[in-house]
Amino acid sequence: MTSISLDNLSKTFGDAAAVKDVTLNLPSRSFTALLGPSGCGKTTLLRLIAGFEQPTAGSVGFDGVTMADQSTMVPPEKRNLGIVFQSYALWPHMDVAANVAYPLKGRGLGRAEIESRVADALSMVALDGYAGRSVDALSGGQRQRVALARCLVTGTSIILLDEPLANLDVHLRAAMLDIFADIHQRTGATIVFVTHDQSEALALADTIVVLDRGRVQQIGSPQEIYARPASAMVAGFVGRGTLVDAQLRDDLARIGDATIPVRGGGNGPVRLLIRPEAVHLADSGLAATVQRVRFTGANYETTLVLGSGDTIVADLPERLDPGTVAKLAISDAWVVPT
Ligand SMILES: Nc1ncnc2c1ncn2[C@@H]1O[C@H](COP(=O)(O)OP(=O)(O)O)[C@@H](O)[C@H]1O
Ligand SMILES: [Mg+2]
Repeated sequence: MTSISLDNLSKTFGDAAAVKDVTLNLPSRSFTALLGPSGCGKTTLLRLIAGFEQPTAGSVGFDGVTMADQSTMVPPEKRNLGIVFQSYALWPHMDVAANVAYPLKGRGLGRAEIESRVADALSMVALDGYAGRSVDALSGGQRQRVALARCLVTGTSIILLDEPLANLDVHLRAAMLDIFADIHQRTGATIVFVTHDQSEALALADTIVVLDRGRVQQIGSPQEIYARPASAMVAGFVGRGTLVDAQLRDDLARIGDATIPVRGGGNGPVRLLIRPEAVHLADSGLAATVQRVRFTGANYETTLVLGSGDTIVADLPERLDPGTVAKLAISDAWVVPT
C-alpha cells in the first residue's frame, strides 16, 4: 500500500502556473477527490503524480521515496500506478481481454495466470463474460469499465482517475460510483479521483481537495467542505446555496430586521452561506419575494429576492407563485471566512 506526498509542488508552462505550491499528504488507502472548475490544474496535478510531468518546483513522494523533483524523475511505468483518463484510450482492434491484459505484457506470466487476472479484473468492474467481445461493440459505459479493468489488472496500489465519468450519462454515472466505491474497498488502493462535479466528489471521497487557479483552497472531509467552506469560492462551488450580506453580533446575524443563528465567528458586516435545506416558510421572519420556481420531484426549488437585493434559494414543499411575498425562517447559516 502506498501513501502519496506532495511538497510545495508547482508546475509552470511558459510563464503561466498550472499548479502552484500544492502541499498534500494522501495516506495509504485514502480516496481523495481533486475538485475544481475547468482549467484549475486538476489534470496537471494528476500528471505530476503519475510522472507525465516533471515539477517546476517541489516534489512528489510515494511512501517517503522521492518520485520527482527538479533533479529526480521516476518514469510512469516504474511508479506502480494505474491511470484512467476521460477518453478511454483502448486498442480498437483488440478484444476486451487483450486490452485488459495489455499491461501484463513482458512480465513473464503464464497464460493461465494472465487469464485468471483478466477474469478477476473484469469481475471487479461487472464485465464477467465480456472477455471475447470486440471493444468496438461496447457502449461508452462498458468501454470505461474496460479501461478501469486494465488499470486494475496489475494490482497497482495507486489508482489515478481523471474525470472518468464525464462522458457517461446520468444513470451510468450512478452505477459507476458504486463500482469505484467497491473497487476501493476490495483493492485497498490509494485513489485520486479528479472531477469538476461536486456531487461525485461528495459521494465518493473521504477527503476533498478544492483547487482554484492552481492553488489549494481547502482540504477536508465532504461533510466539512459542505458545512464549513473556507472561502466564498468553495461555498459557491460545492453544494447549492447562496451568499447573503448580514451584520453579525454575538453569534446572531441580522438581515434587515430578522435575526438568524449562525455558525462561525466575527463581528460587523459578513457574508453568510445559506443552504436551501435551512430555509423554511414561517408566519413571521425575513420577507422575500418569489422570483423563480423549479419543480425537482422531491420539492420546489424556489429563488427569492430579499429587500437588500440578495437572493436566497429554498427547497419548499409547496409551490409559491412568482411575485408572492413570503416570510422565511432560517435555521442555519455559515459565516464565510474572508
Ligand atoms: N502542456 C501544457 N502546456 C501549456 N499549458 C498547459 C498545459 N497543460 C495545461 N496547461 C494549462 O494549465 C492550466 C491547468 O490545466 P489543467 O491541469 O488541464 O486543468 P483542469 O484539468 O483542471 O481543467 C490551464 O490554464 C491549461 O491551459
Ligand atoms: Mg482536466
